Amino acid sequence: MEQSKSVVILGSTGSIGRQALGIAEAEGWRVMALAAGSDYVTIEKQARKFRPVLCVLDDVNAARQLKTALSDTDIKVLAGREGIGQIINEVPCDVIINAITGAAGLFPTLETVRSGRRLALANKESLVMAGGFIMAEARTRGAEIIPVDSEHSTIFRCLAGRAPHEIKKIILTASGGPFYGYTLKMLKNVTLEQALAHPTWAMGKRITIDSATLMNKGFEVIEASYLFGVGPERIEVLIQRESIIHSLVEYFDNSITAGLSVPDMRLCIQFAVNYPEIKPAVIEPLDLAAIGRLTFGRPDTGAFPLLRAAFDCLAEGGAMPAALNAADEVAVSAFLEGKIGFLDIPATVLQTLEHFSGRAFSGSIEEVLEFDRLAREYAGRILDRSKGG
Ligand SMILES: NC(=O)c1ccc[n+]([C@@H]2O[C@H](COP(=O)([O-])OP(=O)(O)OC[C@H]3O[C@@H](n4cnc5c(N)ncnc54)[C@H](OP(=O)(O)O)[C@@H]3O)[C@@H](O)[C@H]2O)c1
Repeated sequence: MEQSKSVVILGSTGSIGRQALGIAEAEGWRVMALAAGSDYVTIEKQARKFRPVLCVLDDVNAARQLKTALSDTDIKVLAGREGIGQIINEVPCDVIINAITGAAGLFPTLETVRSGRRLALANKESLVMAGGFIMAEARTRGAEIIPVDSEHSTIFRCLAGRAPHEIKKIILTASGGPFYGYTLKMLKNVTLEQALAHPTWAMGKRITIDSATLMNKGFEVIEASYLFGVGPERIEVLIQRESIIHSLVEYFDNSITAGLSVPDMRLCIQFAVNYPEIKPAVIEPLDLAAIGRLTFGRPDTGAFPLLRAAFDCLAEGGAMPAALNAADEVAVSAFLEGKIGFLDIPATVLQTLEHFSGRAFSGSIEEVLEFDRLAREYAGRILDRSKGG
């Protein structure tokens, strides 16, 4: 009889993490460990249902609450980065799913790659911050990185092992977000509620705001470049409003291969864990005749400058992608807290990038972390100044 998969889910309380647990239930995966930030209420429920050997919360107080709540079980509870390290290095499993949001996902990505195990990677920020370093480490350790992001999962399938030199272009699709067609003037007064209302995907808050500014698509450009070994000049973004075509690969013979499905992240999570096997569907079938037509367009980098900024950061290299992520993370948090307007997000990020552009960079992970810290501080100061004046 076929052995069911054993998985670890980092970021289990979030949008991707919860969907991963849904598939775990449907396919009978053994859930070996769970980790999250501070949501001890949700992770307790998950732990009681899936019975992992270990649960970790980044927040020490939340971990204490969880430990008390689970004291009638034999589930071990740990806190912080050491706890996540223990999951990755000591808990046996087939696949580690990294669905932590933001820069906090970098350490788990690196540790997983260093452990030589399969990484189902949703946390794009780790590749944005340190893609060159992570991919080199994965090659050295023989670790597989299977992307979970829908565009990259699709490209991975389309490529089916073809080499980078055969690819003419990777075409990443984008829904365009809630503000597709908006001018800068119209964007000035958009609200948090509007920005959180994505037309096709239900996701965590940060990625939803990043989708509204097209920063998310910019991050995906950087992610694709590192994952598939293709430079920015061979990556294009295409608006595909219905989110049915999840990306395309154009070859040098001008043929194009595309991946289509209903927009549902469970397909990508299921695929990343089971690859190279294709398992029975956990998503609805696609009925193209019922959809009738698909709509395409070009992104407007005038109104959404962060997409262009991502291409520029990738081209400049060094620590620029890390600075891009850090500044965006700070600005999006401030927007989510109602402290700044929508257009203050690109303004803060662009000012930060201007400040860091041209800086020398050795390529070490320590330096990536240092740039991350400096860019956060700088972006924070910009926001403080704008509040003050
Ligand atoms: N959602 C999607 O459809 C989608 C699609 C493609 C890619 N992605 C990528 O997948 C990642 C997760 O996105 P999401 O939408 O699932 O985000 P989310 O709903 O905000 O969930 C984030 C998860 O990360 C955990 N977390 C936050 N900080 C942590 C820390 N320091 N240590 C450990 N865990 C921490 C959160 O725990 P708490 O709940 O305790 O805070 C939560 O479990 C992001 O990188 C995103 O870009 C998401």
